[in-house]
Parts: sequence; structure tokens; C-alpha cells
Amino acid sequence: MTEVVPSSALSEVSLRLLCHDDTDTMKHLCGDWFPIECPVSWYHDITSNKKFFSLAAAYTVTIVGMIAEIKSRTKIHKEDGDILASNFSFDTQVAYILSLGVAKEFRKHGIGSLLLESLKQTTGLKDHISTTAQDHFKAIYLHVLTTNNTAINFHENRDFKQHHYLPYYYSIHGVLKDGFTYIFYINGGHPSWTILDYIQHLGSALANLSPCSMPHRIYHQAHSLL
Ligand SMILES: CC(C)(COP(=O)(O)OP(=O)(O)OC[C@H]1O[C@@H](n2cnc3c(N)ncnc32)[C@H](O)[C@@H]1OP(=O)(O)O)[C@@H](O)C(=O)NCCC(=O)NCCS
Repeated sequence: MTEVVPSSALSEVSLRLLCHDDTDTMKHLCGDWFPIECPVSWYHDITSNKKFFSLAAAYTVTIVGMIAEIKSRTKIHKEDGDILASNFSFDTQVAYILSLGVAKEFRKHGIGSLLLESLKQTTGLKDHISTTAQDHFKAIYLHVLTTNNTAINFHENRDFKQHHYLPYYYSIHGVLKDGFTYIFYINGGHPSWTILDYIQHLGSALANLSPCSMPHRIYHQAHSLL
């Protein structure tokens, strides 16, 4: 695709779910976007398997962007097992962004943001998971090459926080490369607490201790004893 993209392109972009007929287009686009070769079955999965939520951004009829993700706390990668505190129930939902890409000539037109925003607001998930499940939806996370500065800046500018450094996480053409885990928490989601978190929490609780901040019930009980 080599057309000149008008500045108004975003207003002509529509979102739709990927379908089986998109398999070849996605193979071509992902080959362009990512340095990793994916097996053919992966393309069948993201375009047909209902466990994936795969959203396409289409400019007229041409797909120019895509975000694919899977959900369920039980499917969190082992190396990211601490992204949610253990007190969250097993039916807690998370989204893992398997891939997010926009055709080169359509980048910096807001299409990546549109795709990510639709996931963040879970509006795109309405047909995919129940309303109750949406409330149980606590985090969106992803993996990225440590050298992919464009993607890192893109996610950091959209409130994703770096969570893990993953040495030798990727194998790119036989060479091992490092990765990061990035997370965006929603609906009160948070990671497991570290000792440092407990110390900070205790510190701020102690700093707030004063007669004025005493819970009312205790204050009244103390007074009734006088
Ligand atoms: C990361 C990626 C998906 C971003 O997609 P995109 O469509 O370019 O994203 P956007 O246009 O929404 O935003 C990109 C930048 O362009 C800016 N932008 C958006 N519209 C703009 C416009 N009309 N004029 C100028 N800049 C604009 C945005 O503000 C943003 O900058 P910021 O991050 O400093 O805020 C894209 O670079 C890509 O496909 N990369 C290759 C695949 C990849 O690495 N994926 C990530 C794997 S984790």
C-alpha cells in the first residue's frame, strides 16, 4: 500500500471484528509489522477463534490496523504471575494484547490510539464478554521488545507502566532479545504488594495518625468513658 494518506484519514476509519476472510491480509500486514514469524495456525486463530477479540481498523474496505487480545486471569503468562494481587478472585479478567499494529503509511494519524482506546474502555468487548465480566476486568498487559522505542513511547504516553524486564524473552531470527511487560490497570486492579509497598503504607498510616483522624466510633467511645 503506497497511497498518500489524507490528514482526515481517522474520520474515515471504521472498526470491525476480524473474520476468516482476513487471514491472508493479516499474514501480509503482520509480516510487515513484526520481526517474528507466526505460524499459519496463529492467523486462523486470531481471525476465527472466538477466544480472541481481534479488532480491525478499516480505511474504506482496506484493513490498516489491528489489535488482538485474549482474556482470563488463569491464562496470565507464568513470568507475569504477579501482575494481579492474589486476593483477586479467579474469575477476574485481564486482557493480553497479543499484537497491535498499524500500516506504516497510516501511522501517526491516531489509528493505534483508536484501537487501544476501544479496548481500554471495554466498549469493544461488549459483544464479547458479559457486563458482569467487564466489572471483573482489572488489567491490560503486553510484551514489547526493549528496543521498540516507538511502541514503548506509545504505550507509556497512554498510561501503561513498565512491570517486568524479561531478559532473552524473544527469539528473533535465532537471536535472543530482551523484552518488557507493560501494564495498564483498570477497575481498581493492582499488583501484588511488595515489602516496600507495606512499609510505605504503614508509614503513611502512621503519619496520618492524630486524634482528629480517629474513627468516630472510637472517639465517641473514648468520650463516653470520661
Ligand atoms: C505502535 C503503533 C501501533 C502506533 O500506531 P499509530 O497509529 O501510529 O498510533 P497513533 O497515531 O495513535 O499515535 C502515534 C503518535 O502519533 C501522534 N499523532 C496522532 N495523530 C497525529 C496527527 N494527526 N499528526 C501528528 N501526530 C499524530 C500521536 O499523538 C502519537 O504520539 P505520542 O505517542 O507522542 O502521543 C505503530 O507505530 C505500529 O504499528 N508499530 C509497529 C508494530 C509494533 O511495534 N506494535 C507494538 C508492539 S507492542
